This record gives sequence, structure tokens and C-alpha cells, in this order.
Amino acid sequence: MLLDDIMKIALNRGIFFPTAEVYHPIGGFYEWGPIGSQIRRNLIEAWREFFVDLDETVYEIHGSTILPHEVLKASGHVDKFVDPQVTCTKCQEAFRADHLIENATGENVEGWDEQQLSQKIVELGLKCPNCKGELGAVTVVNTMFPVKVGIGKESPAFLRPETAQNIFISFPRVVRAVRAKPPFGIAQIGTSYRNEISPRRGLFRVREFEQMEIEYFVLKHKDCDSTKSTPCDHHEECTFHNFKSLQPFLEVKLNLYTVSMQQGPNNEKEYETHSVKEALDIGLLPNQVIAYFLAKEQVFLENLGISREKIRFREMMDSERPFYSASNFDCEIKYSFGWKEVIGNAYRTNHDLSTHGQASSNMKAFQIKQKGFEPVPHVVEPSFGVGRLIYAVLEESYRQPTDREYAWFAFPSIVAPFKCAVFPLRKDFSPKAKKIQEDLIKKLKIRVLFDNGGSIGKRYARADEVGIPYCITIDYETFENDTITIRDRDSKDQIRASLDELSELLQMFWSDPSAFHEELEKRGSAKSS
Ligand code: ATP
Ligand code: GLY
Repeated sequence: MLLDDIMKIALNRGIFFPTAEVYHPIGGFYEWGPIGSQIRRNLIEAWREFFVDLDETVYEIHGSTILPHEVLKASGHVDKFVDPQVTCTKCQEAFRADHLIENATGENVEGWDEQQLSQKIVELGLKCPNCKGELGAVTVVNTMFPVKVGIGKESPAFLRPETAQNIFISFPRVVRAVRAKPPFGIAQIGTSYRNEISPRRGLFRVREFEQMEIEYFVLKHKDCDSTKSTPCDHHEECTFHNFKSLQPFLEVKLNLYTVSMQQGPNNEKEYETHSVKEALDIGLLPNQVIAYFLAKEQVFLENLGISREKIRFREMMDSERPFYSASNFDCEIKYSFGWKEVIGNAYRTNHDLSTHGQASSNMKAFQIKQKGFEPVPHVVEPSFGVGRLIYAVLEESYRQPTDREYAWFAFPSIVAPFKCAVFPLRKDFSPKAKKIQEDLIKKLKIRVLFDNGGSIGKRYARADEVGIPYCITIDYETFENDTITIRDRDSKDQIRASLDELSELLQMFWSDPSAFHEELEKRGSAKSS
């Protein structure tokens, strides 16, 4: 199975591995190794650049991961952040009741209550997957981690289950600090914690993970129905129905799987493809702000090398939506174990700002008054999971050992752990090769691997195994005419280039890999001499 192959490679090549491996690891915690840390860092930077730096209406914050009880009581998490659990009466192992049923039937039962789930387990005759023992009745459990803060006089608190709550409670300060006017967003990248009942599938369902979230604040006209894409009477002033930032993305094609497609007679179809403009015109998307984020996600995922046919946006049924959401379009990726959520997109209305305003008796701080509009801004939230995205990139980039003797990764340059590698053909060419490596690092501010051990073939193989897109070899000719070879990982083709043009060529190949073969046609193929 692909999952098993990738888990094995992740351990061996230092991508990620279980926390406290030398003792008895607790499920759902992982360490990023040297290669994984670089991929993680590159992915986060790519996200920050695309979703924060290139959008001057988005401000980034960085908050505390422990939040007081009051915050999560007000947000609704203390009462409603629950999952259904079923425990084996023999071995006491606990499972997600809905996942056991989904695995057995393929049916989506998210949102069913305890009785419905218990009844279905009995009907299907499901037994403990571990020991085949009898399963007990389904109960719901809160999946936040409680913590006590302070010694002596303790204050109840939780490890945050989403980064979003810091954004809501920081809203009053941020608005004043940057004099923000809607529409604007507050972004945060950070760790969240969920005491998942049965963490599994490696990085996919863990107990400590990183999220990259934006809360995008918009004023809603009192008469506007922001859950329908039909233009409202206040079209010109209404961001939900006239969002200028959406313009460049209108022609982006989205694979949409709406509620009616899931329930209709053709529900075996995995999605329908529409441009953003078409989808809004025929009412498939709730509003232009959601449309904007779906379009940007599509572009971002394609830049990470995920193929179009493996990306879809699934509208959630009423019963599945989180308690705070009026409309949800999950971005799903077709993993080797099926379509799974990688980004949650929720229209959270003004639920969170209102509840924090009420609970803190400070409603004014959460309002931005404009005539005709509701005073508490509404919010659209894209919520990305770093681990799930990296796992998707690993699956998509994985190449079986068929055309080579080893399995390798075709990572796109944007996430590759090293952007290139430098090899001296002979050990005594090392000083020259080192100098080239150092110059590239200084000039381009990138990670460059240096390797002078073993045959050149072995070194190319080691570079492919961790997905390095280009390898530069310093050979005899380098000392005669200041040229090197550049090898393209995916085709194994090589070109010869002068040292003067090296950094420019690499930058061109990183942003457009097809440029390598255009150069190959112009120059002819090379081999290290
Ligand atoms: P699922 O239904 O798969 O449990 P979720 O609906 O609980 O996911 P959200 O609450 O929408 O997920 O969280 C937003 C994003 O955070 C998810 O799309 C995912 O990328 C990430 N995420 C949530 N829970 C986990 C987890 N336990 N492990 C890894 N990533 C997670
Ligand atoms: N902030 C959305 C979520 O984590 O569920």
C-alpha cells in the first residue's frame, strides 16, 4: 500500500517519525526530521507568500497555544467540540464510531447522533477491529486537551483546538493597531491540538498539528443574504456580491461536489467542473468571498504539484457542518485512501465575534459600525492543515522503483528540501565545488546540498530519493572552461552551462521546469566528463 511505502520511506529518509520512538510512542505525535523540516518550512513560506504577503488586506499574528476556559466556552468548543466514540468491551480500545461505519459501508455518517450510530453498528454486526470483541454503546467525548495553568491557584485552560480563536479574541487590538477596515483578513500559522480518539494514517490524523488559517472579515448588509450568490440590492457596496479581489480568479476552474450532486441521481460522479464565474452565476457557491478562497486554494494546490483531477471542493450537508458554520466547502484531495479533507472553508457568519463580545461584556470592541450594515463583521475562514498538505505532496510526488532501482520523489521546486545539489566528480574537485555551493547559497538564499561521497551515480540516486530537482556536477571541463553540468531529476537529462549563467538558469527552471528541455534542445545533451 502507498501509505505503508511512504511511512517506511519517511522513517528511513528523515522526513518524519513518531515522537519518543525509543520509548513507547503515544499515537498521533510526530517529529519532522531534517528533510521533513525543510519541506514543512518551504510549504509554510509558500503559503505565507501567496495568502499573506501578496494580499495587502491580510495581517498576520502569532498567538498563544494555551487559551483560558472562558474563550473556548464562549466559542462553543467546551459544549460542542465532540466526536462519537465506541469502546471495545474486551480490549478497551476506543474507536471513532462514525469512521468504523464509514470504513465498513462507504456511507458518510458525519453528524449522526449516538443512538443512530449505535443502532447502525448493531445492524452491521461490527466488531472490534483489534480483537473482534463486542463494541459498547456510542458516547460523545470532547476532544480538547484540558490543562491547568499556575501552581497553587490554578486557572482552567485548554490547548487550543484551532488557531482561529486567537484571531477572534485579538480582533479588537488588531483593528485598532492597523486601522483595518473590512474587507480584511487576519492570518495565523501555528500549532493546534485535538485529543483524537483514534489517530491514524500517519500525518493525516494526529493529536498535535499545524494549521494555517485566515479569518476574512466582511461587513454584511442588513438585507443581504450572504449564503446565496444571487446579487443583492446593495450590490455595489456589498463585498459578498461584489468582491474586487475575486476578479483575477473568475476563470479558475474548480471541481465542485455540491450537496445536490451528492444527493442527486448522478451521485456516483465525483464532481462537476465549472469556472468560478459560472459557479457563481448558476448559484453553486454561496458568495464571492468563499469563491475567492476556493479559487486561490486551487491555484496554490496546483503549484504544489497536486493534479487537478485529485482536487475537489465538497459542500457539506447541514448535518455535517461544524456548529459555527452557515456554509462549508471542504477542499478534498483524492489520497490513496479516498477523498479526504485537507482544507476546511467555513462561512462562520458573525458567530465568534458576537459570542466573544457578549461573553467578555465588551461588544463594542467587536463592532465596526457602518450605516445599513450589521455592526459585527461576518467571517469567511479557510483553514489549512500543514501535515495533510505535506502528506498529499508526498503521495503525489512519490515514484515507485520502476524506471530506477530506488523509489524517489518528484517534488516541485517550491517545496523540495534542497533546491539543488552540488557534486565534485572527483574528491579533489571538492574545494571548487564547495565554492560554487557557497556562492549559490549566498546569492540565492537557498538550501544547496553538497555531496562528495561515492560514485556519481550513487549521489544522483541519493538526491532523487529526497526529491532534489537539479544536480550540478563539477568535472574536468570545469577547470578548462568554467562550465558545469546540470542534471534534471525527472528526465535524468543533462545540459552543460557556464558558471556565469548557472544561477539565472536555475531560477528559470525552478519557476518553469519545462524551460530545462527548451535549453536542452538549444544546447544538446551533456554528460559529466
Ligand atoms: P476531519 O473531519 O477529517 O476530522 P475536521 O473537519 O475535524 O477534519 P477541521 O476542523 O475543518 O477538520 O480543521 C481544519 C483543518 O485542520 C483540516 O482541513 C485539516 O487539514 C487540519 N486538521 C484538523 N484535524 C486534524 C488532525 N487531527 N490531524 C491533522 N490535521 C488536522
Ligand atoms: N478553524 C477551523 C477548524 O479548525 O476547525
